[in-house]
Amino acid sequence: MKDVLVVSAARTPIGKRNGYLREWLPAMLLGHVLDAAVGRASIDPSLVEDVINGTVYQVGEQGFTLGRMGVFASNLPDSVPGTSINRQCGSSLTAIQMAYGMIASNTLDVVIASGIEMMSKYPIASDIGGTLPNGQPQGEPYGEFFFKRLKGSEFYNQGQAAQAIAKKWNISRHECEEFTVASHAKAYRATVNGYFKKEIVPTSGLDKDRNKIVMEKDEPIRPDTSLEKLATLSPVLGTEWITAGTSSSVTDGASAVVLMSEEKVKELKLTPLARIKANAVVGSDPILMLTGPIYATPKILKKAGLTMNDIDIFEVNEAFAPIPLAWAKELNAPMEKLNVNGGALALGHPVGNSGCRLSITAIHELIRRKAKYALVTLCTGGAMAPATIFERI
Ligand SMILES: CC(C)(COP(=O)(O)OP(=O)(O)OC[C@H]1O[C@@H](n2cnc3c(N)ncnc32)[C@H](O)[C@@H]1OP(=O)(O)O)[C@@H](O)C(=O)NCCC(=O)NCCS
Repeated sequence: MKDVLVVSAARTPIGKRNGYLREWLPAMLLGHVLDAAVGRASIDPSLVEDVINGTVYQVGEQGFTLGRMGVFASNLPDSVPGTSINRQCGSSLTAIQMAYGMIASNTLDVVIASGIEMMSKYPIASDIGGTLPNGQPQGEPYGEFFFKRLKGSEFYNQGQAAQAIAKKWNISRHECEEFTVASHAKAYRATVNGYFKKEIVPTSGLDKDRNKIVMEKDEPIRPDTSLEKLATLSPVLGTEWITAGTSSSVTDGASAVVLMSEEKVKELKLTPLARIKANAVVGSDPILMLTGPIYATPKILKKAGLTMNDIDIFEVNEAFAPIPLAWAKELNAPMEKLNVNGGALALGHPVGNSGCRLSITAIHELIRRKAKYALVTLCTGGAMAPATIFERI
């Protein structure tokens, strides 16, 4: 097996729903981060052997195979292929893992892994139901085979699954709201202190009056988030007390990393950002659906020969506040190492983009802190969780 290194990374600032990114064509936005990642790697674009892209709602402008469309929208030559994969909210971490596999197995040497989602255009479940061009219903993937797995339990939506997880791990609304306040405060502090500057690629867009702007920071953060205000919000998604405050918001964004074998990095005399130390992926209980990170974490630690104590920072996706809180309770994790620059509660969660975005943020934070290991994991629809450990070089 070859060692696989992250050579460069780029992500857009995350855009609010119908925010500054609203008029971008997804392929163009993907092309924009592909160009930025290749530019930051300082490599000949024709060296890229594949683009593996994670997108969840692969319909309409995000359809066909967006990885390849992103290549056409970039400065990469026609000879660079591209594909799009889908593991729900874990899609672009899975893209990184697939690229890792291609390189580690000596199949390819230079691969870009990326993620993009424009939820303003294609919200949750955009690829389910609907109508075919001939007017026939498009259909749904669920069937008796799936409902049998729920063993008579209700089929929760993701908010309801988060609510059930809060109950099971005895997590209160107040704890979730404290966690949300902290997430916004950490993300705001990171923004003000310029911690995201190196990972962000300034991206053009429109302000609310349609003036052209260049965005350099994440749009969804609400620095004035308070316990008092959060306590007044009404429940959403048919839950008891999960609110818009304790849910990740509907957002847009794209990100990309250039991955290379260590031999190629040496040959090209590049300075890499990080090494991929280990990968894992699990399937979990389809009723609670969002508990995967609890099981992916010990699995990947074992594979890496590491313990919780060896990890300097954990990025556990904040799809809803109970998810990282249940993870932390179950694994007795140190809260001061968890989502140190905030998470999706503050920054938003453009689903296909998030695995790559979290990885990019974790790698840059490792470098800033001169720390060694970051563990990144995300819960997903369909009850799964990929996890990756990055090592600073
Ligand atoms: C939860 C959800 C339904 C809420 O939708 P929404 O009501 O349109 O949410 P918004 O983000 O627009 O927030 C609504 C209001 O809540 C309040 N609010 C939200 N977050 C807040 C915060 N941090 N502080 C204070 N007020 C807040 C505001 O009043 C806001 O209205 P405003 O934007 O006009 O100020 C939607 O965000 C959602 O579906 N999220 C989950 C997405 C998902 O499932 N992803 C996959 C996860 S696995």
